[in-house]
Amino acid sequence: MIPASPKILFATSEAHPLIKTGGLADVSGALPAALHALGADIKILIPGYRQVLDKCRHATPFAQLPNPFVPGTVDLLEARLPDTSVPVLIVAYDAFFNREGGPYQMASGGDWPDNALRFGLLSYVAAWLSSQYNTTAWQPDILHCNDWQTGLAPAYLRFWPGRKPPSIMTIHNLAYQGIFGPDTVDMLHLPPESFKMQGLEYYGNLSFLKAGIFYCDRITTVSPTYAREIQQETLGFGMHGLLQERRAVLSGILNGIDTEAWDPRHDPHLPYRYDAKHLDAKTKNKTALQQALGLQVDARAPLVGIVSRITYQKGSDIALAVMHDLVREGVQFALLGTGDKVVELAFIEMAHAHPGRISVTIGYEEGLSHRIEAGADMFLMPSRYEPCGLNQMYSQRYGTPPITYATGGLLDTIMDATPENLGAGTATGFLFTAMNRHACAQAVRRAIALYREPQAWRRLQIAALRRDFSWRKSAGEYLKLYRSLAA
Ligand code: ADP
Ligand code: GLC
Repeated sequence: MIPASPKILFATSEAHPLIKTGGLADVSGALPAALHALGADIKILIPGYRQVLDKCRHATPFAQLPNPFVPGTVDLLEARLPDTSVPVLIVAYDAFFNREGGPYQMASGGDWPDNALRFGLLSYVAAWLSSQYNTTAWQPDILHCNDWQTGLAPAYLRFWPGRKPPSIMTIHNLAYQGIFGPDTVDMLHLPPESFKMQGLEYYGNLSFLKAGIFYCDRITTVSPTYAREIQQETLGFGMHGLLQERRAVLSGILNGIDTEAWDPRHDPHLPYRYDAKHLDAKTKNKTALQQALGLQVDARAPLVGIVSRITYQKGSDIALAVMHDLVREGVQFALLGTGDKVVELAFIEMAHAHPGRISVTIGYEEGLSHRIEAGADMFLMPSRYEPCGLNQMYSQRYGTPPITYATGGLLDTIMDATPENLGAGTATGFLFTAMNRHACAQAVRRAIALYREPQAWRRLQIAALRRDFSWRKSAGEYLKLYRSLAA
């Protein structure tokens, strides 16, 4: 029998506003909330990092199990995602999770040396809750795993006896695969027969993500274009063969965005709120941003915003080169980001060389990210690949046309300002199709040329602002998938 409302366990290593390093957290907060609003019986499963415990002080006991890997007891606590009624199950095991630092990395930068055990435990608990060993009243009908940190769960389920609800593995970024030495197979209580090519072995090592992709029932990724791209060698990161083999169960469901947290009409982070009919207030945000960042207050200077992890994926090196090329042409830049220390330093030097024209903020600042989305005239995101990407959707919603490489979710969410799209009034941004600094700089120049035509620019902004990126549609697609699997 198909349960009218299947019970879903949504296992993830980060969820906004409990803990966030990137888009996975935005999705893991907003998607379960959207599903919950549609009536789904869903619980998020997340590690009890210090940051999570701090924000969930009223959590109550849900279940207990022995830690399978080291002596000790794991407490599962239940709380609510802040500002929602979405239940969250917390894997409280202090020795693994309750520490100073990030979810994956130490404050000093390197990966936690016990990540295999930490995320082995997260995966194990996800499987345990889905299996016959869970004797609580809440038994999931679907296990939904996200990224490598939860990838072992479908493998455990496959080899344990008894109850095996269908599992989904969602790939948010194929580049992060959770690879550990062969000795971890035994340490994590995986059966030796799983350690082979037709299993979780990956070039002599264990890959959490491969385990998930191999043993799950359905694979999804976060945009239709990325679902195709990862089956090709260029963006397959060594997994394209397996993904091709499993293509019958692989699909792309585009992410949505939290349209309440990202709403220029009500955004508490903005000095001036606005909508499509009051775009003059957007100009006031630009002035305020220029003032706050020490940029020359100049309404006519095109201001390009960048909010990004500073990495190769995000094309930060290309952004740096484009700054260098365009700052002489009177363009201003406002960058917020953290990541690669060498590139961070290069950005800081660039800002020092061009005071009043380039502002660089190294760090993670929620409020400033909103003010850049609102105050910039255009948003630059030269990602080499992008499974979905959220910032280009935020920027469109803020009337700040994005300029991006034509890849992955960027291609699926931006309508390029071609003459046809401009004529039809559907254009919302600028795509470039060769991954190099010249093509990127050309796309920025193309944007600036249109920016110099106020009426055409206004039409572009309004078309961008009016696009519907809410979770409603995507959450409906996930529900359909859950129902079909539960059948
Ligand atoms: P990814 O997850 O690959 O980094 P996404 O575009 O999916 O890329 O999501 C990135 C999220 O992280 C967005 O919500 C973005 O605003 C946020 N973000 C990235 N860097 C920063 C930063 N330095 N300060 C504030 N928010 C940031
Ligand atoms: C990953 C991807 C990003 C995507 C996010 C949420 O971080 O890099 O493109 O938007 O996951 O799915």
